[in-house]
This record gives sequence, C-alpha cells and structure tokens, in this order.
Amino acid sequence: MQNVLDLTAKKAEFKQLKTYMDSIKDSQGVLMQTLHKAQDIFGYLPIEVQKFISKEMDIPLAEVYGVATFYTQFSIEPKGKHKIGVCLGTACYVKGSQLVLDKLAKELNIKVGSTTEDNLFTLEATRCLGCCGLAPVMMIDDEVYGKVDPKNIPDIIAKYKE
Ligand code: FES
Repeated sequence: MQNVLDLTAKKAEFKQLKTYMDSIKDSQGVLMQTLHKAQDIFGYLPIEVQKFISKEMDIPLAEVYGVATFYTQFSIEPKGKHKIGVCLGTACYVKGSQLVLDKLAKELNIKVGSTTEDNLFTLEATRCLGCCGLAPVMMIDDEVYGKVDPKNIPDIIAKYKE
C-alpha cells in the first residue's frame, strides 16, 4: 500500500505537532513523547511525519524510524477505522483463539497484521488482554468479546459495517 501523506492537507496537524514539540523540548524522552503525540494526531507514523520529526529534532531519520518500528505501540502503516485484536495468550490459545483469528482473516480477506482495502478493519494478534476467564477473547476497538465462537464472527463483523 502506498502511504503518501498529503502535506498541504495536513498543515494544521503538523503545526499542532510542532507546537507540542516546542512545549516539551527540554524534557526527557522527547522522541518517544513526540512519536506518541504524532500518532495521536495522524493516526500512524508515515514517513513524512518521521522526516518532519527528524528535521525538527535534528536527529537522523534512521533513529526516528528505528524507534517507530521497534515499539509495537507505534505503527508506520495506516490503521483501519476499527481495530480487531485477537488474544493469542496461553489461556485463549488453548481455548481456540487461533481458530477465531483464522476465521476473521478469512472473513475480512486479509492477513493478520494488515488492514482491509476499505480501511474499515485492521486485524492483529495480541498478547493476554487480562480477561483470561473469558477465553477465547478478542477486542474490537474498546469492546471486549469473550468466549468467542468462530461461527459468530460474521455477525459480529456485520455490526461494524453498518
Ligand atoms: S490469555 Fe487471553 S485474555 Fe489472557
């Protein structure tokens, strides 16, 4: 997928990021804070945003890219409107969460870790979500689905297409 950001359309967002960067420039961990803020503003960290941060902070682009790709909380790819996370922690795995994940991938016609062409869904595997008693568990945005049966996946997904 080609991720070219229209810089002129995002002028206000870059200005917002610059204002934030100016406000924290003397604090610790500036790059991490900046990347978090940038992801909040843009939804992900495209190369244009990484270049902007590199230039403004006067650090190599490779360093910005390295941090942006090292930490799982950052994404350099655009995310779908709805984020689906299927827990592959031990409790969920033994209760069949891999089947849930496979069914979602088939239903959405995407691979795990990618986004549907209409940008509606991003599918990811996650670690333990902290509600093992409900295994197998998945989350769609902030909503937790417990004891998920793969055969119910089409109905669950349909709700988010409305
Ligand atoms: S292992 Fe899935 S919620 Fe804990």
